[in-house]
Amino acid sequence: MAWYNNLLKRRKNLKIINDVHFLFESNFDLNKNELNNKISFIEHHMSHMASAFFASPFNESAILSIDAFGDFSSTVLGFGEGNKITKIEEVNFPHSVGQFYTAFTQYLGFHHYGDEYKVMGLAPYGKPKYLKEMEEILVIENDGLFHLNLDYFTHHTNGVNTTMLENNDPTPSLFFSKKFEKVFGPVRIKNEKLSQYHFDIASSVQKHCENTIFHLLKKLYNKTKIKNLCIAGGVAQNSVANGKIIQNTNFTNLYIPPAAHDSGTSIGSALFYYNQVKNMQRSPPMFNPYLGSESSNEEIEVLLKRKKIDYKKYNDNDLVNETAQLLFDGNVIGWFQGKAEFGPRALGGRSILVDPRRNDAKKLLNAKIKKRESFRPFAPSILEEFVNEYFEVDDKAPFMEKVLPIKTNMQNKIPAVTHVDGSGRLQTVNKINSPKYYALINSFYQLSGVPILLNTSFNENEPIVNVPEEALNCYLRTEMDVLVLGNFIIRR
Ligand SMILES: [Fe+2]
Repeated sequence: MAWYNNLLKRRKNLKIINDVHFLFESNFDLNKNELNNKISFIEHHMSHMASAFFASPFNESAILSIDAFGDFSSTVLGFGEGNKITKIEEVNFPHSVGQFYTAFTQYLGFHHYGDEYKVMGLAPYGKPKYLKEMEEILVIENDGLFHLNLDYFTHHTNGVNTTMLENNDPTPSLFFSKKFEKVFGPVRIKNEKLSQYHFDIASSVQKHCENTIFHLLKKLYNKTKIKNLCIAGGVAQNSVANGKIIQNTNFTNLYIPPAAHDSGTSIGSALFYYNQVKNMQRSPPMFNPYLGSESSNEEIEVLLKRKKIDYKKYNDNDLVNETAQLLFDGNVIGWFQGKAEFGPRALGGRSILVDPRRNDAKKLLNAKIKKRESFRPFAPSILEEFVNEYFEVDDKAPFMEKVLPIKTNMQNKIPAVTHVDGSGRLQTVNKINSPKYYALINSFYQLSGVPILLNTSFNENEPIVNVPEEALNCYLRTEMDVLVLGNFIIRR
């Protein structure tokens, strides 16, 4: 009867989807029925797969969509050729790798929607001592797929509900069962000190998640026999797992879009409709994440004058050289340039930058701006040509989508961006896609001999700043030393 229940749920969802017209009308100030355009519904995993494959440089590719749930599926293995995607196999509700990871994220005391990256950050502090227990819960099957041992979960009986907190923070209901608590012990309460046990649990969860991904990819490769792979879905945000895929599978080429999670389904749905439904030819591959809003220097200057802020204007060349010198001199810099990045990562459009050679960078950033958990690493942006010199694997990661091991002899050269296990979640910076950011890192390289900057998102316990006024407010509110807003430099 599972299929029948799914059908009922799909019908219920359809009712919600029909409200899309209403949502458009109310948000864009349209009169009722003014919106005559037809709305097409694209299945969740087809959107995810399209966001990766149709944006990729591959004409043929294996595709994995791996998620919590979407349209009652959690995982889809697929194949893309030209402007068509076909499904090969799928795993349906209630079985899900994402749900497995989220249950442990909640157990470790992180309850907000999207907190899974914190478990990923904790994992290198522990050892995968509880792998056997994990294998009992998320069971790898001989046919190449997996299932959850439902004794440990509640989502299949209680549903997946999300509450919105006062500050619009979505928080899902708890997914783990009494048996889960019996086996793993008391749940970590908020602000409880993290112990070695918590680290080992995080490490075991991460390791088993990676093994499950490799297991699925083995099946996918055997079905497709293609060396190219595209991945999307919430679990594709697991940059640690992503960084290990080429070494642990038969795939040799990997593309992951800048927003592999649900926000990327906006691009995925558009691409699916354009390519697959309308049969249009593929567009050039997407390696440029800068799709958001931008402000001209004229608009920025009006803002600075209105706010009575002292500033100095520079041409492009002088701006990057002056900023590089300020970084070299030890300043924490807010860097706001061009269009905002699409997706969860700051990639040199809305970034806070620091000299990666500083031992005290983490402390400094936490004291001046970020105030975040001490176990979370900061990321390196590196000029594309130098990856081989600093990392064990010579690879590209334009969207900060992979964590790779840093060469042992380089780790003490860039301590601010080296995680406890010697890894770094790198962003490779390309001259064509990020010319100004490339020029800045290159200028810093001329001064320091290091072609890398510490790059963290431009925000302070808030969404990443989007417009100049938000960047200026963040600068004024925190102890950031310098703000580079378009071609203007603002100092304390
Ligand atoms: Fe999704």
